[in-house]
Amino acid sequence: MPRRVDPAAEPATLVAMDVVMQEAYSAASFRDSIERFAAVQPDGLVVVEENGSVVGTGCCVAYTDGKFGWVGLVATAPGFERRGIATAITEHLCEVLAGLGCGSVLDASLAGGPVYERMGFADRGSTRVMGYVGGESVPTSAEPCDPLTADDLDEVVRFDAPRFGANRRELLAKVVSQHPGRALVLRRRGKVSGYLVAHERTLGPIVTDTSESLISLISAALGLDWVSPPRINVPPESGHIATLQRLGFEERRQLRHMRRGVDAMPGRRESIAAQISLGEG
Ligand SMILES: CC(C)(COP(=O)(O)OP(=O)(O)OC[C@H]1O[C@@H](n2cnc3c(N)ncnc32)[C@H](O)[C@@H]1OP(=O)(O)O)[C@@H](O)C(=O)NCCC(=O)NCCS
Repeated sequence: MPRRVDPAAEPATLVAMDVVMQEAYSAASFRDSIERFAAVQPDGLVVVEENGSVVGTGCCVAYTDGKFGWVGLVATAPGFERRGIATAITEHLCEVLAGLGCGSVLDASLAGGPVYERMGFADRGSTRVMGYVGGESVPTSAEPCDPLTADDLDEVVRFDAPRFGANRRELLAKVVSQHPGRALVLRRRGKVSGYLVAHERTLGPIVTDTSESLISLISAALGLDWVSPPRINVPPESGHIATLQRLGFEERRQLRHMRRGVDAMPGRRESIAAQISLGEG
């Protein structure tokens, strides 16, 4: 049976969740993302345990004023699959979201898709993972961006909320504080016209209305230090795909964007060039 994890009281369980996620996804640590779920949705972290060890995990975050929430980082430890663990965890997370008045949204991997489909999730397009492969030189029209700090948050949240479809102030505050010096804001005539956050290996969120602003933001971000060329997770509604391709981003894979209990998403999501992560929307 899935149980909630109390992130403040169970730091060792958070580490064990990260280990299961790394094994299941064959990927590097998810610590930053887990930390954000713990900070923003402390009742949204779930595990299944066997003989005292974590063998399944998942997280969710509710965007209550938008009436939708994201389910993410669902993972079953290798050797424990096909026993209903991921199904039970996802059902539990959907109940947490439903209790907050939210339907459930997720971006499903190839392995996860059939599980969610059986649970009544329906496809609503594809979320694209794109990787930077380099391209034409940076356009000279690129405008300078400023560092985005805690002082800019109110303004950035006012810009972000009508586009994302909900106020995600706490999440944005957390992701900005996790990456000092790596968040950027672009202003035109004193007003915010876009922003982005650069993680260690990914860029996101990136939100802006025009391709000119997107070019300026990404050009500035590419000038930061990167351990490997950045990846971005582009939502199905994004109007920025052609510009991203022109800037040197290439599609790596697609995930199934799936929803249950959410028909139309609020917001002006064509302005979103990149999600904060696949697990958080
Ligand atoms: C995808 C993943 C989470 C599935 O986890 P899981 O615990 O094996 O999932 P479940 O057991 O709930 O369901 C898997 C299948 O087992 C079947 N199943 C469930 N209980 C079963 C049982 N007792 N006996 C036999 N089969 C069973 C389900 O019907 C389901 O079949 P389907 O895929 O045809 O729908 C897991 O493989 C994983 O961690 N993969 C890597 C990471 C990943 O991709 N995560 C998903 C991100 S969206």
